[in-house]
Amino acid sequence: MGEKAGFLPFPKSFETICMHHGQDPTQWKSKAVIPHIVPSTIFEIDDPTGPKEYIYSRVGNPTRSILESVLAAINKGRFGLCFSSGMSALTAILGLLKKDEHLICCEEISGDSHEVFKNIATNYGICTTFVDVTDINIVCKAIQPNTKLIWVENPSNATLKITDICSISKLAKENEILVGVDNTFLTPYLQRPLELGADIVMHSLTKYMNGHSDIIMGSLCVERQDLHKQLSLIQVVMGLVPSPIDCYQVIRGLKTLGLRMDQHHINSIIIAKFLDRNSVVEKVVHPGLRTHANYNVFKQQASGHSGILSFYIKGGLHESVEFIKCLPLRKLPEGSKAQCKYRKDMLFNYIKHHSSVILFAVPTLNKKLNELQNELREKDNYILIKKLDEKISNDLGAEAEQFIDNPNGHTEKNLNNMAERNNQILEEIPQGRIR
Ligand SMILES: Cc1ncc(COP(=O)(O)O)c(C=O)c1O
Repeated sequence: MGEKAGFLPFPKSFETICMHHGQDPTQWKSKAVIPHIVPSTIFEIDDPTGPKEYIYSRVGNPTRSILESVLAAINKGRFGLCFSSGMSALTAILGLLKKDEHLICCEEISGDSHEVFKNIATNYGICTTFVDVTDINIVCKAIQPNTKLIWVENPSNATLKITDICSISKLAKENEILVGVDNTFLTPYLQRPLELGADIVMHSLTKYMNGHSDIIMGSLCVERQDLHKQLSLIQVVMGLVPSPIDCYQVIRGLKTLGLRMDQHHINSIIIAKFLDRNSVVEKVVHPGLRTHANYNVFKQQASGHSGILSFYIKGGLHESVEFIKCLPLRKLPEGSKAQCKYRKDMLFNYIKHHSSVILFAVPTLNKKLNELQNELREKDNYILIKKLDEKISNDLGAEAEQFIDNPNGHTEKNLNNMAERNNQILEEIPQGRIR
């Protein structure tokens, strides 16, 4: 894409599409404004020889069809498909590859996706090369004669690396390779990979798209009819389908997606700026900030950033744990803490809070870790970390007010350059605050 001064504009009529697409009340006898939940597994057939829209719910369901059409519309694709989870959407992707075919995957990717490509795909003779996809030369070198797919998570989980989707797609097309993008962290409100040249866009609907932490679901959207045909066959015959009730929940959740993402964007910029100025924080990673390594690429392909940011606390495991322990909204129910070790040098820990997740990573093989921890376990540092959390809860109201009064001072040029609507949103908030 050519040089652009600011971020991409927000998609036109996004909320209108979410509210109305495929949901015209006149199509139902009841004229219900809100689409019906259809739990029936089987459907009456008037004419056994005629065309049949619905026969059996795994093959097709009216509530699922509505959601699939809304998803296609907001992703700017022709076809949408829903799955019982983000991971089952990824399973369908794997079904596009045959034995002895090869795929290239970004080296930083969410744990379960990594597991699928690294350990499960190999059982079917599919081999994966994990590379740094932010470097197009590295991707180019990784291409083999049997490469079928380049899979990118953008931004990457959890280090928020940004990949140039346009360049990767161009390279892939020249080599007749498919490009798939996991867009879960941004949603189509902020980034639309199909418009950037990707062939498939995936979402874990479990996250922002549903937005209420009460269902597990996934989706794939494509422009190409042949891909839709292959993926929908896998969806149906392998039974990777979601429940109609869950589909209804997502139809409802999408109606507030734009509003929620606007607020996530504002919140994360305020928090990132706040953390960036704090002496116990080593580094903040937020793609919407100029300090991000790939800020220029990011603003050319996205309309803003979501609520996900990473930061490095000075110190080690002890400091990180203490920080998490003293977060005021912490809720740590039994069994909600999980650890996974998918990179040999890092141990990733997830702690689920009420409606939010903290993922923290500590080096496991760093011999200097103990030394470092002892050094930083000194009382003053410990207190500083506690203070950081206190400051977050006490000062964020004031931070937000200052941000609204003087958004450019807080966010420098990045917000200044953002699409006009974004700036309007910021200015129009009378009592701006983190929600
Ligand atoms: C970026 C990303 N992709 C895919 C998934 C898997 O989605 P699901 O949990 O809905 O199966 C996750 C889950 O955390 C994720 O963060």
